[in-house]
Amino acid sequence: MNTRRKFLAQATIGSLAAMSPVSSISCTDRAENPDEKTIGKKPLVISTWGFGLQANEGALKVLNSGGKALDAVEQGVRIIEADGSNSSVGYGGLPDREGHVTLDACIMDGGGMCGSVCALEHIVHPVTVARKVMEQTPHVILVGEGALQFALAQGMKKENLLTKESEAAWKEWLEEAKYKPIINIENHDTIGMVALDKNGDMAGACTTSGLAYKMRGRVGDSPIIGAGLYVDNEVGGAAATGLGEAVLRTLGSFLVVELMRQGKSPKEACREAVLRIKSKHANYKDFQVGFIAMNKKGETGGFSIHEGFGYAVGSEHSNELVKAESLLE
Ligand code: GLY
Repeated sequence: MNTRRKFLAQATIGSLAAMSPVSSISCTDRAENPDEKTIGKKPLVISTWGFGLQANEGALKVLNSGGKALDAVEQGVRIIEADGSNSSVGYGGLPDREGHVTLDACIMDGGGMCGSVCALEHIVHPVTVARKVMEQTPHVILVGEGALQFALAQGMKKENLLTKESEAAWKEWLEEAKYKPIINIENHDTIGMVALDKNGDMAGACTTSGLAYKMRGRVGDSPIIGAGLYVDNEVGGAAATGLGEAVLRTLGSFLVVELMRQGKSPKEACREAVLRIKSKHANYKDFQVGFIAMNKKGETGGFSIHEGFGYAVGSEHSNELVKAESLLE
C-alpha cells in the first residue's frame, strides 16, 4: 500500500472511531451484556454509533406511547438526518468529489415491505422519501433525479444540504486528493436502526451520505435491502455501518438475519458476517465494518472488524451505549 493509501486507511479507522466515540458518551453506563437486560423487553430499539442514543430517544417517544416500529425508526433516524453537525448523514453530510451531497436511505417493516432512495440530492430526510416509495409506489428503489422528482411531488422542499463546514472540508480534501480516485479507504458512517414495538412487530431504517468524497453516482450498502438493512418479523433485524462495498459484496444484513434464523444469537450472527467479510477481503484490516442485530426475543448484539464501534440500546426506561466486540483490537 502506498503512503497516501496507508494514511487514508489509518485516518479512516481513526475517524470512524472519532466521529462517534463510544467513550465520549457520558450520559449512560455501558452494558457489557445487553442481552440479559433486554430479553423479553418490549419495546426495544437499537442503533449504530454514539449518535444512536439521540436517535433512540426519538424512536422511544413513539414506541413508549404504543406506536409502531415503522414510525419509530423513521422518527428516530430523522433526528440524525436533520443534524448539520453530523458529517456522515443527511444535512451537513460530506459531499462527493464534485461537491454534491448525495444521500442513500432505506426503510423496511417486519412483513417484508420496503422502500429505498439512492443518490438523492437536496432533500433533508431521505428516509421519509424511502418510506413514501414503499407506501405510495409499486417500486422498492428510486434513484437520483427520479427520486428527487418524486420527493418534490410528495411536497418535500428542495434545500441546500452542503453546510459551510462540509464545503470547507471538501475544498481542503480537493487540494490534497487532486481528484485521484481513491476507492474503499475514505471516511464514512451510517445510522442504522432496528426496533421492536409493543405489539411485537419489527422495522428498521438506515440512512447515510455515504463515503465522503466518493465518485459521483456511487451508491453504498445503506439503501440496499439485505446489505445495509434487513428485517423479518419472524426472526429479527440487522443493520450495517462502515465500508459499503464490503457489506454489498456479502449482503451482510440479510446474512445476519439468516444466521439468526438458523439459531445464532445476534452477536454470533454479526460476528459470522464480519468473518465472511474477512474471508472475501485480503485488505479487511484497512477498513471498518460493524453490524448490529436484534431478534424477536429481544436479544441484541453487535460486532465489528475494528475496535471503536458501539451501538445504542433503548428500552422503556433506559438508553445506553454498548461497546461492540471486534475482530481486531
Ligand atoms: N455504509 C455507508 C456507505 O458505505 O455508504
